[in-house]
Amino acid sequence: MIFFEGYADALKGNWGREHYFLDEVDSTNKYMLEKNVGVGAVASALSQTNGRGRSGRHWYNNPGSAIMFTVNLPLLPADKLFGLQISAGYAICDCLANYADARLKWPNDIVIKRRKLGGILTETRFAGSELKKIILGIGVNIAAIPSNVSNMAIALSEENTDLPQNGILLANFVNSLEEIFEKYANGELNIKNEWPYYSAYYKKEVSFHKGNEKFTAVEGGITEKGYLVTEGDKGEVITGETGYDFNI
Ligand code: BTN
Repeated sequence: MIFFEGYADALKGNWGREHYFLDEVDSTNKYMLEKNVGVGAVASALSQTNGRGRSGRHWYNNPGSAIMFTVNLPLLPADKLFGLQISAGYAICDCLANYADARLKWPNDIVIKRRKLGGILTETRFAGSELKKIILGIGVNIAAIPSNVSNMAIALSEENTDLPQNGILLANFVNSLEEIFEKYANGELNIKNEWPYYSAYYKKEVSFHKGNEKFTAVEGGITEKGYLVTEGDKGEVITGETGYDFNI
C-alpha cells in the first residue's frame, strides 16, 4: 500500500509495530476502543466515515489526504490525563518543526497561521472507577482539506511541498509520541514550562466563548495539569471541562 511506504523502517521504538492499516473505517478511535490490542499498538486509516473530534464535533477528511491514527497508550493516573493531551501536542509539533511552523491552540489543536492543521482526541474506558484504556487519536491534514472547513483549516503541503511519504511522517509521529509520553509519565516533562514555546497565542489576546458568554483575555500560560491561565480583569484558570474555546 503506497500510503504507508517507509513506515516500518522509520519506526524507532516499540510503539507502532503492532499496526492496523485500514482503508476505511468509521473512526480509528472507535476501532481501538473496541479492539483488544497491546500497549503502543496503532490503527491508521486512509478514510474515516465518522471521524470524531473534541466536544462531540466531527472530524472531516478527504480520503487519502490526511494522516489519521490512534495509539493505545500505557495507563496513567487519571489526574495526568488532561496534561497528556498537551504533551501529545508537543510531540506532533516537534515532528512538524522540520516542515513548518506549527504551534498549539489550547489545549491541543495544531495550527499554522491561525488555521487548523490537525487535532488530538483522547478517549478513555473505565470499569467502575478503574481506568482500563487510554487511546490517543490524531488527525493531521497533509495534502488537502475538506471544502467545508477550507476557511479555517490548512494542509501541510500548503506550507511545504517537499514532504516525505505519509508512512514516514506517521512513523515519526509515533516515535515522537512514544518518546514524549515516557518523559511525561516519568515526571521528566514540565508541560507548564514548555507551553510558551509551543503555544500560538501565548501573551496574545484571544476571545473565548461559552454558550452566549464571550470575553477576551490574554493567554498567560498553563498550569501543571494543563489548564489554561488567562491574564487581566477576567484572569482565571480554564479547565477542559468548562467548554471554553477560542474564537479566532
Ligand atoms: C479535534 O480537533 O477535535 C480532534 C480531532 C481528532 C481526529 C482524529 S483522526 C484519527 C482519530 N480518529 C477519530 O475518530 N478522531 C481522531
